[in-house]
Amino acid sequence: MTRPTPKTFRVKSFGCQMNVYDGDRMAELLADQGMAPAADGADADIVVLNTCHIRERAAEKVYSDIGRLKREDGSRPMIAVAGCVAQAEGAEIGRRTRDVDIVVGPQAYHRLPDLVARAARGERALDTDMPADSKFGALPGRSRRQRPSAFLTVQEGCDKFCTYCVVPYTRGAEISRPWDAIIDEAKALVDGGAREITLLGQNVNAWEGADPAGRVQGLDGLIRALDRLPGLARIRYTTSHPQDMRQGLIDAHRDVEKLMPFLHLPVQSGSDRILKAMNRSHDADSYLRILDRVRAARPDIALSGDFIVGFPGETEADFEATLSIVRAAGYAQAYSFKYSARPGTPAAAMAGAVGDAVMDERLQRLQVLINAQQQAFNDATVGRRTTVLFERPGKLPGQLIGKSPWLQSVHVVDPDAAIGDIATVDLLSAGPNSMAGALAAKKAA
Ligand code: SAH
Ligand code: SF4
Ligand code: F3S
Repeated sequence: MTRPTPKTFRVKSFGCQMNVYDGDRMAELLADQGMAPAADGADADIVVLNTCHIRERAAEKVYSDIGRLKREDGSRPMIAVAGCVAQAEGAEIGRRTRDVDIVVGPQAYHRLPDLVARAARGERALDTDMPADSKFGALPGRSRRQRPSAFLTVQEGCDKFCTYCVVPYTRGAEISRPWDAIIDEAKALVDGGAREITLLGQNVNAWEGADPAGRVQGLDGLIRALDRLPGLARIRYTTSHPQDMRQGLIDAHRDVEKLMPFLHLPVQSGSDRILKAMNRSHDADSYLRILDRVRAARPDIALSGDFIVGFPGETEADFEATLSIVRAAGYAQAYSFKYSARPGTPAAAMAGAVGDAVMDERLQRLQVLINAQQQAFNDATVGRRTTVLFERPGKLPGQLIGKSPWLQSVHVVDPDAAIGDIATVDLLSAGPNSMAGALAAKKAA
């Protein structure tokens, strides 16, 4: 069945920040083709579901989302499934439903306009190639309207092959984008109104590239170059792997004022036996020694991590080692997940599955500890005067929400505060997930 070429679009992104970035780039690509974003709540001619495959039920969620796009008269928009489920299950999606017109993987979405044209001719368009020529060169320039806090993907893919994880299969091998492309994109983001840039990568601290003088640089070199970019006020990066946490990057936390005092450094477990089975190339102690060096460089740094409970073979003693490493690390926040067996990963074939009730109970205990640490971190910042970058309106009238340097959400009610401002704020009180603050003085930044 042929379809009219879409005039309006909606992109829905799930999963990690790299998917948010890809979703933004797809939206810019469709806008570049003359399509307009559908208004909030309105019907769109094409809907892109930009999916995540990291834990189970991701694929099931895609099928139920597709079902919900059906209109009352039985028709539906043109539907594209993008992202990591598309990469992992492309052909399977085509077999399971007739209601998807386009399947496009994370390394092929620069070809979306061609896929849309094919779908309009009534073909089903599948593209899960991982072409050698990177998509980045084929995408249009960044739009002139950017959020105050923008994402910039500098590194993609993963060669670490943790035994539980699908990312090396869905995103492919580690690649670093070239220096000039990154600096140019950062300039365009700042020209479009971004005040803060978060450098993204599945292993962002593995980034490596040659600077204009031909010297090989790591992520710290890139951060030092961005530090000199006029108009850019804040730099962040995520996600890092302990193996790639080199001293130069740690030193940048001491030297570069624009580099925010926040580090997300997942460890996954505190048990060396489990870390080995996970194929993490560090143990609990080497991880904690990295944190010591980071804290020596930047004493106020806010630390964050990721944890998996119930990996195959995890005993109560292994889990207690995880609680111990959390106590030793002292996090400002952390994410924790129940282990989810992913098809095709080595861990899915390992013996010693942990029952769901045990996983639930461990997750609960871990989260109690993490929440207490988060509350303690927030409590310790009450009374401090700091900066907040306002990003969006809050729920209450006149309320704005922004981020502190330590990535806390801070809400302020003040007619003098505006989205995009970096203001000096007194932190007044701490909740578990956010801080209340008041403008001390508006900074002419
Ligand atoms: N590259 C990053 C993040 C990858 S995915 C890193 O290595 O840190 C984000 C988090 O999802 C991981 O850190 C891990 O905690 C979690 N995760 C990945 N695969 C998972 C699985 N199969 N089951 C449960 N959690 C998983
Ligand atoms: Fe997955 Fe491990 Fe790679 Fe992170 S480092 S993306 S957890 S394989
Ligand atoms: Fe999900 Fe893919 Fe990101 S699996 S976490 S969207 S890299």
